[in-house]
Amino acid sequence: MKLGVCYYPEHWPEAMWAEDAKRMAEIGITQVRIGEFAWSRIEPTPGTFEWGWLDRAIESLHQNGLHIVLGTPTATPPKWLIDAHPDVLAVDAHGRPRHFGSRRHYCFSSLTYRAECARIVEVLARRYGNHPAIVAWQTDNEYGCHDTIISYSTSARAAFRVWLAAKYTKIEALNQAWGNVFWSMEYRSFEEIDPPVETVTEANPAHRQDWARFASDEVAAFDRVQTDILRAHSPGKDVLHNYMGMFTAFDHFKLGEQLDVAAWDSYPLGFLEQAWWPDATKERFLRQGHPDFTAFHHDLYRGVGRGRWQVIEQQPGPVNWAPWNPAPLPGMVRAWTWEALAHGAECVSYFRWRQAPFAQEQMHAGLLRPDSAEAEAAREARQVAAELQAVTGAITIQAPVALLFDYEAIWANQIQPQGRDYRGLELLIHFYSAARRLGLSVDVVHPSADLGGYQLILCPLQIFWPEGLSAKIKASGAACVLGPRAGSKTQDFQIPANLAPGLAQELIPLVVNRVESLRPGHVEQAGPYRVTRWLEHIQTDLVPEAKTASGHGIWYHADKVDYLACWPDAALLDAVLRRRCETLGIAALDLPDGLRLRQRGEFMFALNYEAEAVNLGDHVPEADRFDYVIGGPSLAAAGVAAWRIT
Ligand code: GAL
Repeated sequence: MKLGVCYYPEHWPEAMWAEDAKRMAEIGITQVRIGEFAWSRIEPTPGTFEWGWLDRAIESLHQNGLHIVLGTPTATPPKWLIDAHPDVLAVDAHGRPRHFGSRRHYCFSSLTYRAECARIVEVLARRYGNHPAIVAWQTDNEYGCHDTIISYSTSARAAFRVWLAAKYTKIEALNQAWGNVFWSMEYRSFEEIDPPVETVTEANPAHRQDWARFASDEVAAFDRVQTDILRAHSPGKDVLHNYMGMFTAFDHFKLGEQLDVAAWDSYPLGFLEQAWWPDATKERFLRQGHPDFTAFHHDLYRGVGRGRWQVIEQQPGPVNWAPWNPAPLPGMVRAWTWEALAHGAECVSYFRWRQAPFAQEQMHAGLLRPDSAEAEAAREARQVAAELQAVTGAITIQAPVALLFDYEAIWANQIQPQGRDYRGLELLIHFYSAARRLGLSVDVVHPSADLGGYQLILCPLQIFWPEGLSAKIKASGAACVLGPRAGSKTQDFQIPANLAPGLAQELIPLVVNRVESLRPGHVEQAGPYRVTRWLEHIQTDLVPEAKTASGHGIWYHADKVDYLACWPDAALLDAVLRRRCETLGIAALDLPDGLRLRQRGEFMFALNYEAEAVNLGDHVPEADRFDYVIGGPSLAAAGVAAWRIT
């Protein structure tokens, strides 16, 4: 477990670098990420490289014992490159090229740009690949940030046609799979197919789903150019990429397969402000962030990184990019840091070292103020650094609960929500919260993952039900909870011949006859449960565990499987999971919204997301007798405790 920081030596006079490095080390920081936007300084004009400054910046960090993650600068192609090769620019839905003057203006499918990236990455990797201070490479920066996965360029269109031809071989197969006989949408060759954009009304959902799959594959192919070069010239060093929160436009599991470490950028307050929660929730957690949102992403990226992950950008104070940007509660930066470590992070790295007084992010806090005095977060980072020895040797172990996460299902749900507020990510986090309220640790995994060893498997949004998944779940011996829409589409985006839940009928004998989505404010009462947004009409011989006043079953159970035929409220999810925990013999707690637990190896961590103190003993049996290594049973606002499990 270690602490890091993101640093931009090119933003500061060289005379400051040595002192900066010394102060980082003095705080307890051991990893520094640099370089990811520095192309215009590394190669100011085509083919002319200025290595001196970067050599000296790396040296000053190295001399202070700091390890370096070197970023490839491909998120920011410089002006000369764009002017020389305008085809590098991404193209928006109206056919307009994006403009130079910020970042991420490139198109993933541009072969010209891939060649330029290969060129700059190769010179960097050759120069620094075996430098003792470089421990890892970061490819690019936040693929997709600012909504940049999709580009309607001519290169993307050409690549899409090639991708489709490889997938379907014959155009007849594509017409069949997409159902193109509908509305005379049939094609005679792959060359006739365009991206699904600017159609009069919605484009064919199967066309859109394949476009989303294609765009996602393009990200991995783009990245692959860099990872191959880095592996050739910098053997033995980790390669990582920094993913984002609340971002699902490409398949992170697929990209993760070609990387060593998953990193992500955690900005709890900005995310809370941007997310779907009601104003009262946003107000309550204004300075803390949502208690499950950040943790969910930690568990997701642990899955994406196959166990190896870090937070490479951690919010240190107010950010600049949300509609409103409050300051964290005193102690919250420390709490976020400990939360990531509790979930298994190898490193938590603050963004950024010193607040920049110029350009786009001048209102974004750092560990230091622009005048180099310490900001609040520096003190909290120092405190964590001093506390780290208390939990050495904590190895993350498999959680009892697996939550299946499938990016393809999220796209399918966006393409055909059927009800405007059926938000996939929200439903996934809703299920996750229910498990966390019971005090359970959760692994977020891809449906192709090995499910052996889990006791409970949650499938909140498994719209495509892969062949073999039912058998794998049965073989695991785990109990399983299926959310609505499970198995409701074939891979071709069609209704399965045996109707929903399609192949999941191997797990539970029921059929979805009809679905209805419900406008905001409409509630179907089902005993103690409130059904909103979505209700399925089920045909089955099973007797429902709960039903609406109008007689529609909303919860069915058979053997080890539960099926929820509605958008469940928190009470229904609690009841289902609690019942399953009882039958499985898993001890379930009843935690208040702001109190969360997480196990890492032999240590259990507690985190208080409330703005008031919480007494652990009120919620966790025997809390007064634990062997605490951090804190104790009384948790202040933003408080952290950790104890050794006996
Ligand atoms: C991230 C990005 C950083 C910086 C930061 C500000 O999305 O990777 O470069 O912009 O946000 O919060």
